[in-house]
Amino acid sequence: MDGFGRIATDLRVSLTDRCNLRCTYCMPAAGLDWMPGSQMLSDAELGRLIRIAVEDLGVTDVRFTGGEPTLRKGLEELIASVAALSPRPRISMTTNAVGLARRADALRAAGLDRVNVSLDTVRRERYAELTRRDRLPDVLDGLAAARAAGLTPVKVNAVLLRGVNDDEAADLLRFCVEHGYALRFIEQMPLDPQHGWDRSEMVTAAEILELLGAEFALTPSPSARGAAPAERWLVDGGPADVGVIASVTRPFCGDCDRTRLTADGALRSCLFSTTETDLRGPLRAGAADAEIADRWRAAMWGKLAGHGINNTGFAQPDRPMSAIGG
Ligand code: GTP
Ligand code: 5AD
Ligand code: SF4
Repeated sequence: MDGFGRIATDLRVSLTDRCNLRCTYCMPAAGLDWMPGSQMLSDAELGRLIRIAVEDLGVTDVRFTGGEPTLRKGLEELIASVAALSPRPRISMTTNAVGLARRADALRAAGLDRVNVSLDTVRRERYAELTRRDRLPDVLDGLAAARAAGLTPVKVNAVLLRGVNDDEAADLLRFCVEHGYALRFIEQMPLDPQHGWDRSEMVTAAEILELLGAEFALTPSPSARGAAPAERWLVDGGPADVGVIASVTRPFCGDCDRTRLTADGALRSCLFSTTETDLRGPLRAGAADAEIADRWRAAMWGKLAGHGINNTGFAQPDRPMSAIGG
């Protein structure tokens, strides 16, 4: 629990800071200075921290993120070890789906429950420009494989960028409705390594709803939102719906239930934390589970009320989105 009474039941675990795409809003073409292997948590260390979170700290949901989590060796084994915990947490993953087609069944068999797939355009040339890799066909195969394997609901995350893909909102929604994927649009957040985020350039939730409203009848979804980041609307009366994650213009920090663990073992109580709590040090120094759990509890207690993007003096964290996992 944090000092505002929020309960952190959802743990997002970044498995690597590397990625096989180079989305322009996330990374330079040359990539970033990747984390050295020696600094990364081993599978055993990761497994131990997740076990402490689930068995001692009350975490009920574990999401694997990256970079691109499918680049991590031994992913299936790691998932299986988390699925064997008691009580078994729900297990999800956020992926770009490039490598999903041939692994969806194995991931499902290991215990993965569902996936969220990052996809900002369904036009091949545009995809190649935006991600700097010509991989759209692989991603579409990956999505279909995830659905066929039962990694459902398959959600699709799209970031709209002004002048790049903001003419594609309705097409993305049509594509997702047709294929049975749950689309969510995300407001761009100040987490890019280039520190180039510009509020006036951000495509806002209000704009997104206006763009969609021109082609679809949107009505508020009756399903409970809980702590979920997305506000949802039924599309043309349902059953399909569309979500908007308005992190900047309609922050949802008051209901936040999330904690983040980076691939090098830093605990982040907020996506936008400017301080982290190192768990790798104590882990490698031989700390007992109870000591690690105490350190974890203390870190969460200090969680800030919210991200403060809308406050003057807001400072972007040093760690970029790709090394936090979103
Ligand atoms: P589910 O709703 O459980 O399917 O997952 P999710 O939306 O939390 O996870 P996902 O990794 O798909 O995240 C989608 C977008 O929401 C990403 O851009 C995340 O950074 C953003 N997001 C997720 N959690 C938070 C959060 O706690 N705060 C903020 N500001 N954004 C978040
Ligand atoms: N703001 C919002 N979403 C972002 N993502 C990556 N960078 C940003 C950003 N600066 C998205 C990815 C992916 C999800 C995990 O986060 O597109 O769908
Ligand atoms: Fe939670 Fe921080 Fe995200 Fe707000 S910005 S919802 S407090 S993780």
